[in-house]
Amino acid sequence: MSITRVEDIGHVRFAAPDLAEMRRFLEEFGLSCFERDGRLYGRGSDDAPFAHVTERGEAAFLGLGLRLADRESLERLADSEGARVEPFDAPGGGWVVRLRDPDGNAVEAVAGQAWDEAGAHVPESGFNSAALRRRLRSAVRLAQGPSRVRRLGHAVLNVADFRRSERWYKERFGFITSDEIEAAPGVALGAFMRCDRGDQPTDHHTLFLAQLPGGPGFNHAAFEVAGLDDLMLGHAHLKARGRNAAWGVGRHKLGSQIFDYWKDPWGHELEHWTDGDLFTAEDGSNKATVRDMLDVQWGSPFPALAGKRAPSFENVGRLMAFNIRLRQLFRRGRKEVA
Ligand SMILES: [Fe+2]
Repeated sequence: MSITRVEDIGHVRFAAPDLAEMRRFLEEFGLSCFERDGRLYGRGSDDAPFAHVTERGEAAFLGLGLRLADRESLERLADSEGARVEPFDAPGGGWVVRLRDPDGNAVEAVAGQAWDEAGAHVPESGFNSAALRRRLRSAVRLAQGPSRVRRLGHAVLNVADFRRSERWYKERFGFITSDEIEAAPGVALGAFMRCDRGDQPTDHHTLFLAQLPGGPGFNHAAFEVAGLDDLMLGHAHLKARGRNAAWGVGRHKLGSQIFDYWKDPWGHELEHWTDGDLFTAEDGSNKATVRDMLDVQWGSPFPALAGKRAPSFENVGRLMAFNIRLRQLFRRGRKEVA
């Protein structure tokens, strides 16, 4: 039984030397931005007070915010961690417990934020498929411009030790594994994890922890957009502005999202996605491969695995398994020496 049950991811926190430059990028990416107390906030259209926050400083990923149901959940978390419940000094207010995960990322557990009605909801266009006619007696006429980001959907962290980080997040927040990735049989590389919201369907993953070569750090944060048209319009808009595309457009296998990845001015990756899988707590957990993790059902292949001379998924898996085993060996060696 975990200490709390996370309801969703709330925000990602960065530092950047130039808030005006970050604001230009985020607005082209499709967030509504405002500054308060020297910090830059970006929000979607889902009424949450913010989803992206930037402080002035050397460019860095600082951490993430996780939403809990209520203040009692925060009290339980604070008690077990020897931490304090503090007022959250950010738009929407509420309460926060500040923790550090095993890799030193700040984790802000938040509850009691005020949500307002300021968000502009984007009406559905009504997509006509061959079997389901939903848009009748009206034409598609799309406004050119940035995507309309609705909400933050997930974050992906590269971790030093997958099992250690998995335990840390699951014990505190009750995450459920949707798909555990094995680099080789019996060698876990990471897991896509969803929130335990009982019988309420929730995103296939809210957090993905992965022990990849290169060590711990931020991998990407992903924002849900209004729909497929909106994602494609956003792609054209960012491309026309000369922004750095990272990967896309395509459809993932695990989670099924249609995706499009971009880099902010300091190289941190942000993703647009739409049409992801939704599962309940009883939908269980699966094992999956490196190919499942990186392959696409259609669209742009993973950049490092594109082209004639690219390594195979199987060889990439072997390399990752070797890396994980090597690090386990060094950790064991260090413990024995100590
Ligand atoms: Fe993603």
